[in-house]
Amino acid sequence: IAHLGAQAPHFVIDWVEECVSTNTALMENTPADDGRVHVLAAERQSAGRGRRGRQWQSWPDGSLTFSSVWHFARGTPAPAGLSLVAGLAVAQALERFGVVGLQLKWPNDVLVNGEKLVGILVELSTGHARGLAAVIGIGINLRLPPDVRIEAQTGVTDLARALDGDVPSRPALLAAILAELERLCATYASGGFPALKDAWEQRNAFAELPVRISGDHTALEGICAGVDDDGALLLRTDTGMQRILAGDVSLRPL
Ligand code: BTN
Repeated sequence: IAHLGAQAPHFVIDWVEECVSTNTALMENTPADDGRVHVLAAERQSAGRGRRGRQWQSWPDGSLTFSSVWHFARGTPAPAGLSLVAGLAVAQALERFGVVGLQLKWPNDVLVNGEKLVGILVELSTGHARGLAAVIGIGINLRLPPDVRIEAQTGVTDLARALDGDVPSRPALLAAILAELERLCATYASGGFPALKDAWEQRNAFAELPVRISGDHTALEGICAGVDDDGALLLRTDTGMQRILAGDVSLRPL
């Protein structure tokens, strides 16, 4: 990935044939803060993970799957906001390749025309001397196999469709996303989520629409009224405004 190296010599990139899950690998063995950004990309994951214990399916040559580690000093703004930062970074990077109609689904799915193009899993690794490390895992559908495409009811889409077949190379995508993540993580570390909130809300797929939030023990319905300064979702319900933290909940349109 020569062009990435020239742009950002402090990225350390491992691109392996196979891995259980790039998130698991970096969570189990999180590189210490040496001032560089460690990245693990895999051609194949035997057990890719999604949010809320779900599985993440990817296809050799048809997906880009990687995780990167970002260190934040103690006292950094609420880590919950990082999920939104990651989604925004991916959306902004993809926009540069000409993808139109990108939207964000709280906390961190990237959609095109209401269908999922990218899944993101942010996990926090604590216990570091100087603060916390966030492992940001990103899976992008580049070319879904034809049978998956035919079952398009599943609500997934791919970059081939979004760009009319003209899919950028995986190293080019990786480089663009890492550069954007670096820019937004720096903004987040210094200014917190408020500095990125407008950009996020402009792409909110469900702004002012009815949604249901469900967790293991809760289900709430209301109107999606945006996000607050910590990246929590604001839900306008019959009984007033509720503030929802990303944790273990998911959002569905009603
Ligand atoms: C979701 O949509 O629930 C999140 C999916 C995240 C998938 C990526 S692929 C790279 C990284 N490794 C994993 O096991 N998961 C993330």
